[in-house]
Amino acid sequence: MIKTVFWKNNTVVMIDQNALPLLERQVVCSDYRQVIAAIKDLTVRGAPAIGVAAAMGAALGALSIPSVSGGKFQKKFNAICDEIAQARPTARNLFWALERMKKYLDEAIPTGKKNLAGELVKEAKRICAEDIEINRQMGRYGRELFSDGDNILTHCNAGALATAGFGTALGVIRASVEQGKKLHVYVDETRPVLQGARLTAWEMKKEKIPATLITDNMAGFLMKQGKIDKIIVGADRIALNGDTANKIGTYSLAVLAKAHRIPFYVAAPLSTFDLSLKTGAAIPIEERQANEVTHFRGVQSAPQGMKVYNPAFDVTPAKLISAIVTEKGILTKPYTAAIAWLRKGNGRQ
Ligand code: MRU
Repeated sequence: MIKTVFWKNNTVVMIDQNALPLLERQVVCSDYRQVIAAIKDLTVRGAPAIGVAAAMGAALGALSIPSVSGGKFQKKFNAICDEIAQARPTARNLFWALERMKKYLDEAIPTGKKNLAGELVKEAKRICAEDIEINRQMGRYGRELFSDGDNILTHCNAGALATAGFGTALGVIRASVEQGKKLHVYVDETRPVLQGARLTAWEMKKEKIPATLITDNMAGFLMKQGKIDKIIVGADRIALNGDTANKIGTYSLAVLAKAHRIPFYVAAPLSTFDLSLKTGAAIPIEERQANEVTHFRGVQSAPQGMKVYNPAFDVTPAKLISAIVTEKGILTKPYTAAIAWLRKGNGRQ
């Protein structure tokens, strides 16, 4: 199994996603600041993977705190978490993981536990292990949406590389294939950073899942030609009403899907839901540097000094989403009611 990010001998090891698919190499972080840099420059990317990396980064930070009293330790640890929280703004999982680490410490201190940093390392490892299990569970629920012979379109990379392992949207595809269904996947290239062409294509090839790469602007024509039966994508943040932020280009796909009456699915763990936001209008959208657009893998392709707008995500309105696959079951409209049901600790299918 592809292990995207993991803990080894008091370091955080991650697959270098910037080097893929040409080079399979790992980056080893021994300082939490290196983890922040790796999140910022997309060495590790994809909402759940960012969450796991953030938790492990926080654990590395905890190990660097000299032995002080519980209160002082907590102050320093929270400051480290606040620093990590600045790495990227959109993926909810980053903040979810840091909140969970802070809460864990808050509850551990009164119990008189001695090795607080060691306890935080264990919690970060748990977040990592749970993520894989959650993805498998999403796969078990989500695979019922796909039929033998389906042609599935996906955007960006919501696979093992975007999580601790197995994947969200690609996890549903993997689980369907494991079940014996023959699927064919159309992989959107995903400009400007090419997460589809570089990462999803790499995952599909590695596991011999039949797949075809297309550029983003071809998707509408393929839908018109009847080549696409279903679409599934991951998510970076989901508001209470089901509005979903995901990689730029997702919204266009959802509009095209509606025009061609093609089911449009989202797969995401509960850690991606932001229960503080009523709608997607309040989701912070990261803007990334201009050279992602003016250059193509390091080679300049636009005039020098060209003005650029480069939002890394867009928001798909809930009304365009046919269903949301979670580890608690498949949510259908109205999402506000379905999410409220989940908040009460229920499962739903
Ligand atoms: O900028 P990235 O590569 O971190 O963006 C990732 C995406 O938008 C994914 O589709 C999303 O995180 C879902 S991954 C399970």
